[in-house]
Amino acid sequence: MLEVDGLTKSFGTNTAVDNVTFSVARPAMIGIIGASGAGKSTLLRILNRMTDATAGRVTVEGKEVTALRGAQKRAWQSDCAMIFQQFNLVPRMDVVGNVLHGTLNARSTLATMFNLFPAADIHRAIDILDRLGIADHAPKRAESLSGGQQQRVAIARALMQDPRMILADEPIASLDPMNAQIVMDALRRIHDEDGRMVIANLHTLDTARRYCDRVIGMRAGRVVFDGTPEQLTTGVARDIYGAGASFSEDSTSTAIESLDRGEARALREAEAAV
Ligand SMILES: Nc1ncnc2c1ncn2[C@@H]1O[C@H](COP(=O)(O)OP(=O)(O)O)[C@@H](O)[C@H]1O
Ligand SMILES: [Mg+2]
Repeated sequence: MLEVDGLTKSFGTNTAVDNVTFSVARPAMIGIIGASGAGKSTLLRILNRMTDATAGRVTVEGKEVTALRGAQKRAWQSDCAMIFQQFNLVPRMDVVGNVLHGTLNARSTLATMFNLFPAADIHRAIDILDRLGIADHAPKRAESLSGGQQQRVAIARALMQDPRMILADEPIASLDPMNAQIVMDALRRIHDEDGRMVIANLHTLDTARRYCDRVIGMRAGRVVFDGTPEQLTTGVARDIYGAGASFSEDSTSTAIESLDRGEARALREAEAAV
């Protein structure tokens, strides 16, 4: 369903994404790993058309995404929602308002100006928040929530667009291990239950191994690994990160492994009961 072919992005003499080619046959949960500066964010931004490629193309179900213009480009952007490390919520706006922002592409300027949301959209927003275990926070200001809760609001906003694909740029890099697990569990569940493709840039190996069906490793703009979590051995990881003998798995670990799923579920339920 997704074909990335010879994708390249240069900034002056610096090639951020260098001839990247891969294809995905059916919706999967894909992790992209690599050292800082490897080109992970630039790749996601090209997929979403926030950035234009210098060369190459992206095709989704036969449609050339990299060639879309105007309304078709905007339609694609709402079909592949983005989630960021820093959540990118409107801090002073309430949670449900932030989620409803996920429908803005589809609404008239006038309705947007007056913050008029159809009742059906409001109900849907609450349902999505409920699914993520944070419906009780709907009337609160986004800024009053914890990081893990804010990232779930951002996921809810993305789901409001009913996207075919979710692109997450280091979604757990600012979270503690417990919240990192809750957010990754939510993304995995959205993939499993809705069949949406998830592509996540991840800064830690253990997260990629635990949650993803397939891992793509980037180094200096190029794909240097593309395989299953089982194939992602410590030796392969050392190549991807280019860290030589000093490479340590600990430096790329979120310590999510140390939490069991029951513990995270208990926290979620405790939060929902507040
Ligand atoms: N807007 C930009 N202008 C100039 N250089 C950029 C820009 N965005 C990214 N780069 C460069 O492209 C390379 C890849 O960056 P990035 O995609 O952010 O990597 P990663 O997300 O893996 O850390 C880096 O060398 C970075 O400095
Ligand atoms: Mg990045």
